Amino acid sequence: MSAGENDSRFEISRWLEFYSRHPMFYDPESEEAKERAEFLRPFLRDLLTPPGRTLDLACGSGVFSFLLEELGHEVVGVDALLLMVDRAREVARSRGSKVRFLRGDARQIPLPDDSFDYVVFLGNSLPHFSIDDVWTVLGEIARVLAPGGRLRVESSDFIQLLATGGYKDVRTEPFRTGAVVSYHSGYSGTDGVVKRLFHYLDTGRFEELEFHLWAPWIFRFVAARRGFTLEKSTSHKPRWYLELYRLK
Ligand SMILES: C[S@@+](CC[C@H](N)C(=O)[O-])C[C@H]1O[C@@H](n2cnc3c(N)ncnc32)[C@H](O)[C@@H]1O
Repeated sequence: MSAGENDSRFEISRWLEFYSRHPMFYDPESEEAKERAEFLRPFLRDLLTPPGRTLDLACGSGVFSFLLEELGHEVVGVDALLLMVDRAREVARSRGSKVRFLRGDARQIPLPDDSFDYVVFLGNSLPHFSIDDVWTVLGEIARVLAPGGRLRVESSDFIQLLATGGYKDVRTEPFRTGAVVSYHSGYSGTDGVVKRLFHYLDTGRFEELEFHLWAPWIFRFVAARRGFTLEKSTSHKPRWYLELYRLK
């Protein structure tokens, strides 16, 4: 059974507070989000040419969907969290944007076969997905892309962060609304996840979230087996990668 727009069974609903306190993802009108969009502008403008039919998968509140529309693409955005989709639609109305935003699961994209020239998966959404999930998501991306279509992925190398001591046991969270402290609370080498406990100091609430561990070499391996050829890889900031794949 496919989940409808108002279906609250998405496991993702646990992330509601995390994202609502994170303007760089939640609010395209925030300075933090505008900075992210401007930073990626040349990377999206120069490689996704000519502009075409583009799916922004796990689009959040549409920070990059709006940018892609500005660059001439015909954009559909899909995200699992209604909070994000509602904010995206609100901003679309206020900007007079034609981007269509749908609530949906990347593992079961609610769109027809062969309907896009490009799929973008930006802002490091991979930690939401297990390796099995990504196998499924890449199958779905291959289904909705037209033959020869391209996939643009932005990801952060989590394993490098762990290996170089950048992953702190306790940290105050930057770019958040309200004071937030997070604590390392678990690691599973069999599931490939780290768990973190977030403490929202203003409300006193605690919330434990799971982050799947990814590095570009793991993603490349899965993508290659799903029929995607790596065309270009750029490290656009320390520990971050932007990769362009072409569907065979
Ligand atoms: C780090 S944010 C990136 C959002 C957006 N791409 C950006 O860069 O602003 C990750 C997004 O993935 C979405 N997400 C997580 N699991 C998902 C799933 N199974 N299907 C679709 N979206 C999902 C979250 O709701 C969240 O908006």
